[in-house]
Amino acid sequence: MFRYRNAFEAEKGVKGMQLTGKRIIVTGGASGIGASTVSAYVGEGAQVASLDVTDEAGLKVVEQANAASQGGGQATFYHCDIAQPEEVFSTFETAVAGLGGLDVLAHIAGVDRSKPAEDWTLEDMNFMWSINLNGTILCDQAACRQFRKEGKGAIINFASDVALAGMPNGAIYAASKGAVLSWTRTIAAEWASKYNVRCNCVNPTMKTPMYEQYKASLSPEALEAFLANEKQRVPLGGEMGDADRDMAPVMVFLASDASRFINGQILPVNGGRVMLHG
Ligand SMILES: NC(=O)c1ccc[n+]([C@@H]2O[C@H](COP(=O)([O-])OP(=O)(O)OC[C@H]3O[C@@H](n4cnc5c(N)ncnc54)[C@H](O)[C@@H]3O)[C@@H](O)[C@H]2O)c1
Repeated sequence: MFRYRNAFEAEKGVKGMQLTGKRIIVTGGASGIGASTVSAYVGEGAQVASLDVTDEAGLKVVEQANAASQGGGQATFYHCDIAQPEEVFSTFETAVAGLGGLDVLAHIAGVDRSKPAEDWTLEDMNFMWSINLNGTILCDQAACRQFRKEGKGAIINFASDVALAGMPNGAIYAASKGAVLSWTRTIAAEWASKYNVRCNCVNPTMKTPMYEQYKASLSPEALEAFLANEKQRVPLGGEMGDADRDMAPVMVFLASDASRFINGQILPVNGGRVMLHG
């Protein structure tokens, strides 16, 4: 047994579970990375509030995670549209009351749309900003409200490699994620020193419904080119990852005390897809 594990178990008085006692809000818990994260957190003994606009799928994820739980972990689903300020603050208040406090926010919910850069309309832009950018800011602010009472907290936001590398036919999505990176780095500095709240950002590349939706938007020729390109661009495995296998363990680490000194970082979980060469 590693030494750090012994120290952790002695401090918490528990064996095996990495998130026992943690109270966590997950947004986007009904699908993809969010659904994998809810299941992993419950499996590691956490108390979880899962927020999403897709009620049926969200409830199903929570039911399955609770049925598989062996270490006291438990999840509850709450409907919440993260683009609606009042709904965000009131749902967070209800969720925090149900959890008995808050230790971690895993803010995963997001949307994607594809079209040539010259064709994006104001409606497209407002849709993208309101969910990907405003939704991130609102959820982080609502969590911070509680973290100030707790005297500490951790936030995990979701950006994208395309914020750094660009995305043909995804300009406004890429721009919204670029803004999430800037926001994350700013609050990582501001809230860590003021409120003892750390904040990091994940850039994932996972085969989820959002990925399938993107592939479905491509013509057969474009899809073939995209998949061939992925083979070349992902050094580890030649394709995107699996959210349960490749993303959920990282989400557990980022929510756990093992990552307590990691702050303001962009963590790519992408098999080496985008690397910045000197
Ligand atoms: N899958 C990838 O490879 C990839 C790559 C880069 C970034 N991301 C980001 O990771 C996050 C998760 O992506 P995913 O692939 O699991 O997507 P997904 O589409 O499978 O899941 C997104 C979830 O967000 C929810 N959601 C959408 N709008 C919402 C709203 N207004 N309020 C509340 N919930 C809302 C959806 O209902 C869905 O359950 C997103 O922020 C996405 O932009 C994913």
